Amino acid sequence: MYKTLAYEKKENIGILTINRPEKLNAISNELTKELKKFLEDLENDEEIRVLIITGAGDKAFVAGADISELVDRDARMGRRVSRERQEIFSFIENLHIPVIAAVNGYALGGGLELALACSIRIASEKAQFGAPEVKLGIIPGDGGTQRLPRLVGSGRAMEMILTGDFIDAEEAYRIGLVNKVYPHDQLQEKAIELARRIASRPPLAVRFAKDAVNRSQEGGTTSGYTLESYLHALSCTTEDKKEGVSAFLEKRKGKFRGK
Ligand code: COA
Repeated sequence: MYKTLAYEKKENIGILTINRPEKLNAISNELTKELKKFLEDLENDEEIRVLIITGAGDKAFVAGADISELVDRDARMGRRVSRERQEIFSFIENLHIPVIAAVNGYALGGGLELALACSIRIASEKAQFGAPEVKLGIIPGDGGTQRLPRLVGSGRAMEMILTGDFIDAEEAYRIGLVNKVYPHDQLQEKAIELARRIASRPPLAVRFAKDAVNRSQEGGTTSGYTLESYLHALSCTTEDKKEGVSAFLEKRKGKFRGK
């Protein structure tokens, strides 16, 4: 049914796999569309009590936005794509059921932002996290500048977002980005175990509790998202963005001139 997603149900647990392993599950426009449709359908599924999101293959959860689609992303498109993906990730954050990110490898850029929109994150020892947008001459555009500091504190978020450096699973655990780290081959089973525990609790209480905890995170985020998407759009107009994206696609180191 989907080209870029795979979905399976285990009793009342849904397992969504982002499924473009040959591109490290990078988020393409097609994937965004399919994800939106999937979530709308899920809202009407009365049976599912917890959703797990993970990545296909052994290497990546999601390695960010599809960089080949960044080549043509100008300010207008940057703003549109940013708003669209912010909305989808906010939809996940506010979904009627809890969402567990089972981070099985790279969670970079939009992949980190997807994990941040989930209610709980657990990781395999192989997971790596990063916000490398700045290296491409752009800034996060899918909610990362708002959610990351709320979760790990602004100093740590600044370091990740300003350097673009990756951190490993152990460091992610230490700073509270993930709740638990498991051996790689146990991650799926541990995610299901956690999902089953939550699914065994009264669904309405779980839903209300999730809503209440989410509201505790608010305060200025709407204006934060607006600013983020305008600045993301602006970054899409720079020469440095053109150079950063080309350098990645041509497998060379970028030369940045602050223009
Ligand atoms: N968008 C599009 N394609 C991507 C991608 C992305 N975000 N991340 C990886 N890929 C592709 C690679 O281009 C490569 O495709 P190819 O085999 O057709 O050349 C394939 O996925 C495998 O990736 P590769 O770079 O060969 O794997 P690696 O193990 O050497 O490196 C990473 C892994 C994650 C370090 C590296 O792929 C990377 O830096 N990706 C980009 C991350 C990023 O900047 N994300 C934020 C985007 S806003």
